[in-house]
Amino acid sequence: MSSTPPKTQESGIPDAREDRNLDQTLRPASWDEYIGQEGIKTNLHILLTAAKNRNQTPEHILFYGPPGLGKTTLAHLIARETRAQMRMTSGPAIEKVGDLASILTNLSPGDILFIDEIHRLNKLIEEILYPAMESGVLDIIIGKGPSARTIQLELPPFTLIAATTRISLLSSPLRSRFSGGTFRLEFYTDEEIARIVSRSATILGVPLADDAAMEIASRSRFTPRTANYLLKRCRDFADVRETTLDKRAVGDALTLLSVDTLGLTSADRAILRAIIEKFHGGPVGLKTVAAAIAEEESAIEEVHEPYLMRLGLLERTPRGRQVTPKAYEHLGIPVPEHLQTTLL
Ligand code: ADE
Repeated sequence: MSSTPPKTQESGIPDAREDRNLDQTLRPASWDEYIGQEGIKTNLHILLTAAKNRNQTPEHILFYGPPGLGKTTLAHLIARETRAQMRMTSGPAIEKVGDLASILTNLSPGDILFIDEIHRLNKLIEEILYPAMESGVLDIIIGKGPSARTIQLELPPFTLIAATTRISLLSSPLRSRFSGGTFRLEFYTDEEIARIVSRSATILGVPLADDAAMEIASRSRFTPRTANYLLKRCRDFADVRETTLDKRAVGDALTLLSVDTLGLTSADRAILRAIIEKFHGGPVGLKTVAAAIAEEESAIEEVHEPYLMRLGLLERTPRGRQVTPKAYEHLGIPVPEHLQTTLL
């Protein structure tokens, strides 16, 4: 190895920016290219076509579900279909009432406003959204105390598309204002993910056999973003080791990344192991698990648990989190007697 570290930009090593650009390249540009979520696509098609036929701006739409399933991609596709300009922001980026007022008053007729992570929007700011969504007006309070008065500004017709990983944190007044619909994105099937991976491999110019695509799919947490990430890492592995990406090379590359045969990462395994080794398999509270492995509660709840539950390795009970016998088996730990079911 050379003693001087390579200069990232000049050495041709992809940097994070290039990786992000790649993500844009892999994003489906048309409904036909968007694989999966068939029910949502059909409903959106009806909503958008009906609005177009009536010459109206589509009503407000809310997407929710675990990260990486394509909420932002759907918003882009809606903007494309309606030929609308899309303004993108996020709950935490809107810090003051004035920030939202400025975004709303700068919209042009027919624009789409996309607010990601809407559950992180400050409650005071959220209240500005209610009249804006319902009646297309912005209430501005001028002055303070007894002399304060409200003036109403009429806004251009617009469509709010919001996304959240935590629907339960949205207030019901906000939720009820998504009159176009609230759509839950579902995890993808392995077959759908394999098709997404094969499509991405073609775009990247990486030859990938069907069984290798399936191997990536089976470790991708039923999530396109993870699948594309793993594909890129497999491509790096194949380039550096000068090998073709067959099923075996994919297995080797992903094992090296600590992504096991079920798609669990070291953080997933740490959660299961902590519950088993420190809390007798549970039930144990979320806070306690988070403290035991020094992980954020929100990451455990939003990223890890949905997948572990989907695989049947973890259960949420009224008394806390509990692992299943399948979790012991996957980690190679003997299943304790009280969890063993006797087959008569
Ligand atoms: N890339 C990310 N999500 C996708 C999807 N649903 N279909 C096709 N390509 C994708």
